[in-house]
Amino acid sequence: MPNSFLSKLSSAQNVFTFRDFILLPGRSEVEPDEIDLTSMLTKRIRLKIPLVSSPMDTVTEWSLALEMARLGGAGVIHRNMSIQSQLDNVKKVKSSKVEVLSLDERGRPLVGASVSPLDRERCRALDSIADFLVADVAHFHTSKIIEAARKVLPELSSDFVVGNVGTRDAVFDIVEELPRVDGFRAGIGSGSICITSEVTRVGAPTLFAVAEVASALSEKKLDIPVIADGGIRGPGDAALAFAAGASTVMLGSMLAGTKEAPSKFVVRGGREFKTHRGMASAAARKVRFAVDRYSVPAKGLDKGVEAFVSYVGRTDGVLARMENGLRAAFGYAGARSVADMWRKANFGTVSAVGAGELGAHSIEVKG
Ligand code: XMP
Repeated sequence: MPNSFLSKLSSAQNVFTFRDFILLPGRSEVEPDEIDLTSMLTKRIRLKIPLVSSPMDTVTEWSLALEMARLGGAGVIHRNMSIQSQLDNVKKVKSSKVEVLSLDERGRPLVGASVSPLDRERCRALDSIADFLVADVAHFHTSKIIEAARKVLPELSSDFVVGNVGTRDAVFDIVEELPRVDGFRAGIGSGSICITSEVTRVGAPTLFAVAEVASALSEKKLDIPVIADGGIRGPGDAALAFAAGASTVMLGSMLAGTKEAPSKFVVRGGREFKTHRGMASAAARKVRFAVDRYSVPAKGLDKGVEAFVSYVGRTDGVLARMENGLRAAFGYAGARSVADMWRKANFGTVSAVGAGELGAHSIEVKG
């Protein structure tokens, strides 16, 4: 028994979220168009822009993945479908003749696929066909998952991203117990459609998770890129994630409303929407292929919601707004690259009362 339960409360860690911080302006020596946004996605893969689409069944199938590669980012094909369908999606991207900025070594579009270490057959089927594999598990820091990954990794040659994780201890255990890790996907409970933290009161919000994971890696002197995953609503959140140690950011709901997302287009009350859902929502779990994202007691629990997101048109518009916003944020912070953000960007805290001053205020917004 802990000898003081009270000290457990009084020594609690600060768990920071995007809304708690801003970046401070720093001396700037670069123009926005001179900023280098290239960044490592995995140990071997560098992207022209540091944006990755989430493996959700309302976000990434071949069409969005191809568009992400065309624009210099990358897509991760979701796994809430049969192995054959996921393979077909990957192959459709790989065999496309569109000119793309993200290429494999043979000049074909770059694409990733999500997997579960528990599904060895899927890992093997997609390995070396997809350029990288992304573990798609709600809580990777689980003995059973780590053990399964330890067994399957020696059979795989594609870069393998581990996730989701959110603490230093997870990193220490995983790098100790796995033969290789080519990337970490950090963030638990911050996703727009996610109610994990609400239901269970457990979570590692993305900004906190990224800082934890990146600090643990730097302490171990390991050069493994970190993907910030969940809760990113625009370039400002992404800039904060880079400043906290991320190499790339993963977007779910920001891309669910695009033309290229496989979500359903609907008109409600004269407004255009697309449907979106968490992978732990009842509707997504009904498809069953991805239910092993969750541990046994969590399988029956809704930890995601079904929703509508505004239709936002083509993906290139969303990515252009992200890229321009990131260039502006890096410029204000005085950083010329992602690695410069790690070194130079300084955080300021925002009080709950002060937060209202940071958006439009004291006016009537038109439209
Ligand atoms: P955004 O905010 O970009 O977040 O939409 C996308 C990320 O959210 C995670 N995800 C979930 N987390 N319950 C969860 O707890 C869910 O149903 C769920 N679905 C997705 C996932 O990490 C994704 O990339």
